[in-house]
Amino acid sequence: MACGAGSGRGTMRCMETPAETFTHDEFLLTRWTFADGAPLRAVIEASGAHLADWVFWATGGYSDEDAATFLRLTNKNWETGRAYDYAIRVDGSIAGGIGVMTRDGGVEIGYWLGHASTGRGLVSRAVSLLAADAFRRGAGYVEIKHDELNTRSGAIPARLGFTMVRKETADEDRAPACTGVNHVWRLTAS
Ligand SMILES: CC(C)(COP(=O)(O)OP(=O)(O)OC[C@H]1O[C@@H](n2cnc3c(N)ncnc32)[C@H](O)[C@@H]1OP(=O)(O)O)[C@@H](O)C(=O)NCCC(=O)NCCS
Repeated sequence: MACGAGSGRGTMRCMETPAETFTHDEFLLTRWTFADGAPLRAVIEASGAHLADWVFWATGGYSDEDAATFLRLTNKNWETGRAYDYAIRVDGSIAGGIGVMTRDGGVEIGYWLGHASTGRGLVSRAVSLLAADAFRRGAGYVEIKHDELNTRSGAIPARLGFTMVRKETADEDRAPACTGVNHVWRLTAS
């Protein structure tokens, strides 16, 4: 069980900690380990502008130190309940990443894929799986946010029956292809 303290962004009412592994016929979701640094960097570096244009953390390259910093942060986030990040693995290799971030009364899900792993429904199905798990654990809603120009990202919540509920100014650094205006999609527990 992991509970945030206080209220507002990054906090939540007490919810069960999710499983560290989810199994699907075509992929696995696994909690990142410190051994993932080199393959993580390789997938991100091989993806070039596909990632660098849209996610600020891949803009300007991705070093071994970047990977190590991420792996330390995600490990800490698991311990505090702030966020639960998973590698998306296909046949043992890293295809991408997906994270469930704790929000007040619900969760937000974020994702990325290596360029070679797009177009196969991996993220749509991973989101579906993690959203169902979040509702089972007591989340009142699941949100997905993406830049208004990132239509590939927006197609995922649309495909899964989310509703676009608002636009807002992004609160993180802006990647080159982004306008800084996010579309926010929401699915509520029913
Ligand atoms: C956003 C991103 C993850 C979307 O990747 P994607 O491959 O389009 O998403 P999915 O893995 O869900 O695959 C969907 C595609 O697989 C197809 N597909 C095949 N089998 C499928 C299945 N069983 N279920 C759902 N879709 C399936 C869909 O029809 C769709 O194809 P289309 O592109 O021809 O419409 C990817 O473009 C990316 O990593 N972008 C850069 C990082 C980024 O922008 N992250 C989000 C920041 S907000």
